[in-house]
Amino acid sequence: METPTSTSERLLATVLPEDGQIPAFVHTDPDVYRLEHQRLWNRVWLFVAHESEIPSPGDFVVRDMGERNVIVARGDDGEIRVFLNSCRHRGMRLAVEDEGSGPSWRCSYHGFTFRNNGTFLGAPYQRAAYVEGLDRDSLRLLEATSDSYRGMVFATWNPHPEPLTDFLGGMAWYLDILIGRAEFEVVGAPQRWVVPTAWKLPAENFASDAYHTATTHAFLAKLGLVSGVDFGRLGYHVDVGQGHGLGIGIQDEGPWYPQELRPEYERNLTPDQLALMDRIKNFHGNVFPNLSFLIPNVVEIAGHRVTGMTVRLWQPIGPDSIQAWSWHLVEKGAPQWWKELGRKTYVQTFGSSGMFEQDDTENWEAQTRNSSATLNFEEPVMLHYQMGLGRQPLSGFPGPGTVYDGKFSEAAARSFYRRWLDLVVGDK
Ligand code: FES
Ligand SMILES: [Fe+2]
Repeated sequence: METPTSTSERLLATVLPEDGQIPAFVHTDPDVYRLEHQRLWNRVWLFVAHESEIPSPGDFVVRDMGERNVIVARGDDGEIRVFLNSCRHRGMRLAVEDEGSGPSWRCSYHGFTFRNNGTFLGAPYQRAAYVEGLDRDSLRLLEATSDSYRGMVFATWNPHPEPLTDFLGGMAWYLDILIGRAEFEVVGAPQRWVVPTAWKLPAENFASDAYHTATTHAFLAKLGLVSGVDFGRLGYHVDVGQGHGLGIGIQDEGPWYPQELRPEYERNLTPDQLALMDRIKNFHGNVFPNLSFLIPNVVEIAGHRVTGMTVRLWQPIGPDSIQAWSWHLVEKGAPQWWKELGRKTYVQTFGSSGMFEQDDTENWEAQTRNSSATLNFEEPVMLHYQMGLGRQPLSGFPGPGTVYDGKFSEAAARSFYRRWLDLVVGDK
C-alpha cells in the first residue's frame, strides 16, 4: 500500500486543474479517500442543518461531518452547538434517533447523561461506582466550532478555523439570493439515500456542469414529462473562488415567484441581487466541498410558474459510496399554492425518486465504477476538463467571482479540484 506521502506526490504530478486534466483515480482511490479524511473533512466548514429544523430549545438533529456523526442541538439557552455523537465513557453513539427534543441525552450503554449544552450531568449509581469521584469537566462532550449564515448552520473540527463568512467568500452573495432572500423553512425531514458514487462527482456536477443537462435529461423534455423545460446555454457560469462554483440559467419573462413575497425579497436583497433573482430560470451550485443547491427550471403547473428548491449534501461513506441528503425548503411566508406546488415539483424532479435525480445517479454510478476499474492501470487515465479554458470572463457582472457569459464552461470544476488538491496535499 502506498504511503500518504507517495499519494500526495502522485496527486501533485497528475491533478492538473489549470490544464483541464484530472485523473480518474482521484474519485475512488482508497488512499486518496484516507487523505481526504485526514486533511479535508477535518479542516473545512461543513453544512449540518438549517435552523428551522431545530426551532425550539432542546431540539436536535443527528448529522454527519465527513464520517463523524454529530448532534446539532439548540440548548436550553437557545444557542446552537454541534457535538460529536459519542459518549465520553466508552464512545457509544449518544443520540440514537435521527432527531428529537429534550434537556439531555442518556447513553444507552451504561447511562452516562449529558445536558444539551454538552456538560456531563451524571452517571447511574455514581457515588457507589465512582467512590474516587468523577472529573465532570473532562467528560464534556467534544464540540465542533459552529456558526450560521442565513439560517444555514455550518460546523468545523478545525481548531483554528477561518471565519465562516471568509470561508464562504463570494458565495455568500449568491447564498443571499438562494436562501437569504426570505425566511425559509425545511419541509419535512431531509430525504436520504445511498448512491454507489464517489462524492466529488455530484459535487462537481452541481458546481460546474450545466452542459450535461441537454443530453442527460433530454428525454424528459422530449416526452413532455416536464413542461417548459429547455436546456439552453443562456445564462452565466461562475467560478466563485475557493472551490465554490455555480451556474445561473436566465429567462426574460420577468419575475416568476409569488408577488406576495416581493416586499420580503426587497428587504433582504440589494437591487442588483433582486434584478438577478427576477431573471433566474434555474440556479445550481456547490459550496465547497459537498453542499449543493438547486432552484430547478421554473415549470408551469396548473397555470402557475413554479419551482421546488433543494439543498443537498453528498456525504462520503466510503471511497465509492455516498449517502445523499436532500432538503426541500420553502419561503415561510409564501402562499399555500406555492408551497404545495413547490413540494410537488421537488418530489417529481429532484427528490429521492425524482426524474432528474435518476438520470444523474446513473451517470455518477457508472463514472464511479469506471474510476475503480482504472485504479490498477500503470498510467493514470486522464479525464477532460478543458471546456472554456482561456476564455475571457465577463466584466461588469454585479456578483462576485469570475463570471462567464453562457452556462457552458468547466472553469468552476477546475477551481473545485484546485481547492481540493491544495487541501489534500498541502499544509495550508
Ligand atoms: S458508553 Fe456511554 S455510558 Fe458507557
Ligand atoms: Fe443533472
